[in-house]
Amino acid sequence: MKFTILPALALTVIAVQCAPRTDIIKDNVANAEVQLKSLVEASEAGDTVRIPSSYENGEIIYVPTDDWVSGFFAGTLWYMYELTGDEYWAEHARIQTELLDTVQYLTWHHDVGFMIYDSYGNGLRLKNIDGYKDVIVNTAKSLSTRFRPNAGILQSWNVDRGWQAERGWKCPVIIDNMMNLELLFKASEFSGDTTFAKIAVSHADKTMENHYRPDFSTYHVVDYDDETGGIRGRYTAQGYADESAWARGQAWSLYGYTMMYRFTSDSKYLERAEDVAEYLFDNPNMPEDLVPYWDFDCPDIPDTYRDASSAAIIASALYELSWHTDNDEYKEKADKIICSLSTPAYRAAQGTNGGFILMHSVGSIPHGGSIDVPLNYADYYFLEALVRKGNIEKGIAPVVK
Ligand code: GLY
Repeated sequence: MKFTILPALALTVIAVQCAPRTDIIKDNVANAEVQLKSLVEASEAGDTVRIPSSYENGEIIYVPTDDWVSGFFAGTLWYMYELTGDEYWAEHARIQTELLDTVQYLTWHHDVGFMIYDSYGNGLRLKNIDGYKDVIVNTAKSLSTRFRPNAGILQSWNVDRGWQAERGWKCPVIIDNMMNLELLFKASEFSGDTTFAKIAVSHADKTMENHYRPDFSTYHVVDYDDETGGIRGRYTAQGYADESAWARGQAWSLYGYTMMYRFTSDSKYLERAEDVAEYLFDNPNMPEDLVPYWDFDCPDIPDTYRDASSAAIIASALYELSWHTDNDEYKEKADKIICSLSTPAYRAAQGTNGGFILMHSVGSIPHGGSIDVPLNYADYYFLEALVRKGNIEKGIAPVVK
């Protein structure tokens, strides 16, 4: 399958030369304080607190608690607390986090790892708040209901509603699902129940076996037969074509296997992450500023959209990868991405962009949703990358297990 991109929408980002600066973390934090305070105020105006996800056509977009992006704003505010030590951010992070209370029982999609770990996970790490561990363990129980033992994977999407029902899939697994595994490891640590970590390892191993092409780019979707464990087909959902390399999928892949090494110390995961990094940085379609186009194989390159969210995820993953491998080249690449994202080509002027930090992300072109807009997960991984960069530069681990 291939999708048509409306040419009228195509837009080229004019890259701005990025000079490495020593104060880049401080400068970004000062900027984020202004932007995110206005977003906190907007989200808390009115009778109910809302969860901002994007800014489109002059309006902040808010999402319900069961949306896959519902935990990122809470997580963004937790990172602001980590970066500043200012209790203002912890107070509002906690409000956003606890809005998601019912997500721990959500079983109809796989994204609960993202949603709860970004919010409750960060809150627990930074403030050790009573009850947050229980939320994480309950979420792991809910996510585990999606484990299909014959295939050895967690099913990503249900196929009985929405556009997923139209594709004829039986048990689709998307590369993004690697990101939900972090929560499973923590749930095993908190509960003593090793089942969750075993599910994470099984899912990661099957994904490593079945999602990758020989060049270490990844398919977006692998459809399994959950009864036989066989593969029914390999597809895209959000990329240009089934055989193309959707940029954010490659970013989740890099991040996912780097994180797997953090929890298991199994070198096969680190090797996979390094193979993915090689694919990314040897790719002739990777732009000079290292902010990818939305799909590495989009035939319209260079006249198509960049995806700042992919760049931010890749930067954050690379800081961790540089630590595990003791390879400064990964940090240099991550620094370059952060530098690019900090230029006016991607970082919004204060008082604009609805209060989001970064411009120019792509949600899903095939679905016509959130194209060339700010997205809350771009901001989340951007701040996470700044935290990790700061830690490495202080000589401490960028991320703790
Ligand atoms: N997990 C969905 C996305 O990356 O758009």
